Amino acid sequence: MHFGEDRNAYEGAVVPPIFQNSLFTFESWEAIDAAYEDRTNRFIYSRGKNPTVQVAEQKLALLAGAEKAQLFPSGMGAISAAVLHCINAGDHVIAIKNIYGPANNLLGNYLTQKMGITVTYVPGDKLEDFEAAICDNTRLIYLESPSSAVFGLQDLEAVGALARSRNIRTIIDNTWATPIFQSALALGIDMEVHSCSKYIGGHSDIIAGVVMGNAKDIDAIATREYAWIGAKTAPFEAWLILRSLRTLPIRLRQHQESAMKIARFLEAHSKIKLVRYPGLESFPQYALGQKQMSGYTGLMSFQLATEDLEKIKTFFNSLQLFKIGVSWGGHESLIYAPAISYLKELSLEQFTAMGISLGDMRISVGLENADDLTNDLEVALEKIQA
Ligand SMILES: Cc1ncc(COP(=O)(O)O)c(C=O)c1O
Repeated sequence: MHFGEDRNAYEGAVVPPIFQNSLFTFESWEAIDAAYEDRTNRFIYSRGKNPTVQVAEQKLALLAGAEKAQLFPSGMGAISAAVLHCINAGDHVIAIKNIYGPANNLLGNYLTQKMGITVTYVPGDKLEDFEAAICDNTRLIYLESPSSAVFGLQDLEAVGALARSRNIRTIIDNTWATPIFQSALALGIDMEVHSCSKYIGGHSDIIAGVVMGNAKDIDAIATREYAWIGAKTAPFEAWLILRSLRTLPIRLRQHQESAMKIARFLEAHSKIKLVRYPGLESFPQYALGQKQMSGYTGLMSFQLATEDLEKIKTFFNSLQLFKIGVSWGGHESLIYAPAISYLKELSLEQFTAMGISLGDMRISVGLENADDLTNDLEVALEKIQA
């Protein structure tokens, strides 16, 4: 709540100001010269460090148990920078299957073509698969646990130890659990990346991202990928994140409580074939989740028991409180059907080979009253004719 805020420096203001300035001025040649000597820590030009951004970064680092954090203008900005920091042309990367789509495009498509990297995909649930995929030139293992598409978990402690023993860097996309529910760095992962556009922002009014890790990595990313590629975080965005962080644990507690209620309701419903939610005892990797996470957030998916597209659309279009949209982690409940976007790129056979069906629904349980949300789902499910 108070960490990183020097209220005496802001006339006692209870909320830090937005430092909306492009540059900082100095008294003398000697003063600016001294600032340049310590440029990773000093305010010189806002494409580098900015005081409002720094307060948000310090709070985020504290939450994650990281030495440092670097904010980015989007989660993808953070992911791209962390990956580029770890690899060179021609390197080999191991990534889990079903990572967030644009991260997959970056690794398996863009960097493959531009930098000649190679990628091996592993399901992520068995350590042997990671071990078998390691080559002489493997430099990075990229994780997402739980993954936002199928909610697969990886054993972070085991993968972290394996990677360290082979001198391979590790990055986890920790957006689903947030630093509140999963301390990935303490479990031995080198760096964690987040889309702050989800729970960390939480109000559906920010696009931002963050990379967190040790000071050496984060200073290198701040100097090179952040400043040279020019991915500057807006002070206003950082200020909104400060606002959001003050309620993050409280919001997460409510997301978790409502999501558990809804997951249990769905699991018991005759028109639902299966529910994917790491907080349910029936979740195949429940024990691993209990070992490495201290809570569960509000994003889950479920499969309707029908494959009839008209019936599926009837359910989808009947919801009133769950709004139709692609993101998650905000105050508002959302629904999305992966078939809408995937079937534009994949055949039905390729789509079902991913373990997803036409009746798959992804919901983000928001902060509305949980009974109202359950009722909304119940009414829409009743509309599906047997
Ligand atoms: C798991 C995950 N990681 C990263 C991102 C990218 O974040 P952003 O949209 O802030 O670039 C998203 C966005 O949906 C996501 O779902």
